[in-house]
Order: sequence, then C-alpha cells, then structure tokens
Amino acid sequence: MDAILRVVVFIFICSVFTVQVEGANFFCSYYNKTCTNTTHPPPNQNTTYCGNDGKTYHGMCAYFRASCSRNVTVVATGVHCENKIPTRAPPTSPPPLTYFEINLYHSITRNIDDRLELSKARGISPAKAKPIFSRQDHVNKTYIRNPDCWAYGLDLTPISPWNSNHGIRKAGTLVSKRHMLWARHYGIPVDSTIRFVDLHNNVVERKVAGIRYVNHSSTGHETFWGRDIVVGVLDKDVPDSISFAKVMPKGIDTFRPRRDTRLPVMSTDFEEKALVTDFSYYMNTGIGLRTPDVHSLEHDYYESKIVGDSGNPSFFIIKDELVLLFVFTSGGAGGGTSINHYYDEINRLMKEEGGDYQLTPVDLSTFGLPGKTLPHLIG
Ligand SMILES: *[C@@H]1O[C@H](CO)[C@@H](O)[C@H](O)[C@H]1NC(C)=O
Ligand SMILES: *[C@@H]1O[C@H](CO)[C@@H](O)[C@H](O)[C@H]1NC(C)=O
Ligand SMILES: *[C@@H]1O[C@H](CO)[C@@H](O)[C@H](O)[C@H]1NC(C)=O
Ligand SMILES: *[C@@H]1O[C@H](CO)[C@@H](O)[C@H](O)[C@H]1NC(C)=O
Ligand SMILES: *[C@@H]1O[C@H](CO)[C@@H](O)[C@H](O)[C@H]1NC(C)=O
Ligand SMILES: *[C@@H]1O[C@H](CO)[C@@H](O)[C@H](O)[C@H]1NC(C)=O
Repeated sequence: MDAILRVVVFIFICSVFTVQVEGANFFCSYYNKTCTNTTHPPPNQNTTYCGNDGKTYHGMCAYFRASCSRNVTVVATGVHCENKIPTRAPPTSPPPLTYFEINLYHSITRNIDDRLELSKARGISPAKAKPIFSRQDHVNKTYIRNPDCWAYGLDLTPISPWNSNHGIRKAGTLVSKRHMLWARHYGIPVDSTIRFVDLHNNVVERKVAGIRYVNHSSTGHETFWGRDIVVGVLDKDVPDSISFAKVMPKGIDTFRPRRDTRLPVMSTDFEEKALVTDFSYYMNTGIGLRTPDVHSLEHDYYESKIVGDSGNPSFFIIKDELVLLFVFTSGGAGGGTSINHYYDEINRLMKEEGGDYQLTPVDLSTFGLPGKTLPHLIG
C-alpha cells in the first residue's frame, strides 16, 4: 500500500468516531500543499477511491478535495470498490466489574499498597524497606528479619533464603509442610539442605528427599518452557513455626484482569528483597508480570529480575496470606509457568512423593455473592 494511502486509511480508521474536524483539516492542508502544486504533481494519481457518499474518486487529489470540502471518507478502493476498508465496530466499554472482581481486586491491591503507603508514611526509603532481612549470615546461620521491610507484618516463612546447592541462588517455596516448588531450569538436587527462618529468626533446615517435574515425559527431549516447575519433597515436615504458601483456587485456571486493572504482586529476588511488580495474566501454561507505571507507588519497590533470581516466588497477598502464583523462569518484569495450569498434576506428584499433602487453595468465597460459584476471570 502506498504510504499516502496508508495515511488516509489511518486517518480514516482513527477519525470515524472522533475527529472529522481534525481529519478534514489534514485533508485540506494536504490538498492545499500537494495537489495544487503544478510543478511537482503528487504520485499515485491512478487509484480509485470509493467514498461513503457512494461516489468514486480517481486519484488521491480528487478524493482529498472531496474529503476536505464535503466530509467524505474512504470505504473502499479499486475500480469496482473491491478493496473494502474494514470498518471498526463502535467502541464498546468493557463490561462492569462483578461484585466478586471488585472485592478480590480490592483485597489484592490493598494488601500490598496499604503496606507500601504505611512504609512511606513512616519515612522508610524503598532501599531500606525492600530487604526482608536486615542481617543474613549464611555461614553462621544468623538471620534477622528487617522490621523496616514493608512486608514485615506478613508471614514470609515459606520462602527459603538459602540452600546448600547454590547458596542464596536457586530459591524454593513451601506449598505444604513437606513440599516445595522451584524452577526446573535452576533445580536443587536431592540431598541438598534447604534453610528456612521462622518469625523469631530461628533457623530450620531440611533435606531434599525427592524431586518430580511437572508434565515430564519419560521419552525426554523436552525443554523446560511451559513446564518450569519442580515439586520437591523434604525428608520430614517443617515445624509449625514455618508456614507454607497457599495457591489460587483450581477453578480459576485463567486469570486475566482488564488492562487498566493493575494488581500488585510480591516477589523475592536472590538477595531476599520483597519486590513489587504488576500482575499481567495467567492462561494455559503461561504467567507474566508487567512493570508498574513509573509514576506509581509500586514502581519505587520494583526491580527488573536478573540472572540468579530464577526460581524465586511471586505471590498475590490476599487476606494477609501468601498466595503463590509461580516461580521465575524469565527476567525483566518476570514470567514463568502457571501453577494453576498444573494444579492437578502438582497434587498428583505431591501424592506420589508421599506425606498425604495437597495444595491449599486460598478461600475466595467471601469475595463473591453467597451461593455463587467462582467465575472465570477473563478480562
Ligand atoms: C486550503 O486552501 C483554501 C483556499 O486557499 C483555504 O481557504 C483553506 O483554509 C486552506 N485549508 C488549509 C487547512 O490549509
Ligand atoms: C511543490 O513541491 C516541491 C517538492 O515538494 C516543493 O519543493 C515546492 O516548493 C512546491 N511548490 C509549491 C508552490 O508549493
Ligand atoms: C490507471 O488505471 C487504469 C484503469 O485501472 C489502467 O487502465 C491504466 O493502465 C492505469 N494507468 C497507470 C499509469 O497505472
Ligand atoms: C462528517 O461525517 C460524519 C459521519 O460520517 C459525521 O459524524 C460528522 O458530523 C461529519 N462532519 C461534518 C463537519 O459534517
Ligand atoms: C561467624 O562466626 C565466626 C566465629 O564463630 C566469626 O569469626 C565470623 O566473623 C562470623 N562471621 C560473620 C560474617 O559474622
Ligand atoms: C505437556 O506437554 C505437552 C508437550 O510436550 C503438551 O502438548 C501438553 O499440553 C502439556 N500438558 C499440559 C497439561 O499442559
């Protein structure tokens, strides 16, 4: 398509509902400038434009003149008007949020934003508010939780800060008293020691007793993309002083809020900082985050995910509880494999590994109307 026609079509598409005034001005000034220039006549004088007035115009200038003086727009091109220009459906406003969505989004947002606002109000800089620990001595096993961390009030004990295989890298997160999830492409081998820190800074250690891959084919030749989850089992249960993360209910296997709905997610990185990123979607095997708006409060607590962060967890915080969404496969804002896509599979592998535990879904029933089942949140 010729460049000018492209402009015409573009203006057409953009102006159908809004800017005939602007459109007309564009056509008039273009017409005045180009079509009245006798020394350098404009190119492409042979295209036939079909106007919305039912008439055909031969050449761009004829069309521009009509458009300028009589508010004509192109509906097709070609001698027989055979190249129809698709008309855009009238803009529809997205359906209003349901009662359930309003309540859920509110909870997800307030559980993080209220904490960030409070932290700011207390005069704590993001640099001081991000570290979960004010002291991490991995050699002497001394950990001190940072009371200035914006997430200090939350129970972050399911998040392991250290393992014997790769130190502060290669994170793992508890989803039961004996099972953990981490990234397959950044795996922790059997017999490695995994360390946890309870709310009173006591260290608890367990060994990895077994691992299973989600959607693993015995024939091999499979990449980790779309299946970057390891279900690890520990040699014994963690004590009650260490909690495990919940997950989103199985029924919500697609979660895609409207683009203008920005939901904050808490992630950790290999330095054990509590970072904030916006949720984007989960659907099929994929799940992704997006960078918070640069002017938002969340952005002050955002960092791009880098090498070494793989396997670190991302959570919604709902009713003060950690709800694990995925572990990092990719960097930037961050993305990975949706836990919810493999909900049954993870439960099956947990059962195989022993211990009689299953994933624990967060209870969202209080957000809906009584008696209604959970909707699929496709925005
Ligand atoms: C185009 O030229 C006509 C006649 O000279 C003039 O009235 C009109 O304002 C011009 N339009 C623009 C947009 O330049
Ligand atoms: C005609 O177009 C040529 C090339 O764009 C330009 O240099 C010239 O100034 C124009 N003449 C008039 C009268 O606008
Ligand atoms: C202009 O269009 C007519 C009809 O489609 C065609 O017969 C003629 O060859 C074209 N001229 C040029 C220069 O493309
Ligand atoms: C131009 O036409 C559109 C519909 O095609 C109409 O909505 C608009 O009011 C018209 N503008 C003028 C200036 O006549
Ligand atoms: C660990 O403890 C030893 C003594 O047991 C001490 O010399 C060393 O400085 C400690 N390490 C750190 C990082 O504090
Ligand atoms: C498991 O992987 C295969 C490709 O190897 C894919 O076709 C299948 O959909 C995956 N299973 C699930 C539940 O995603």
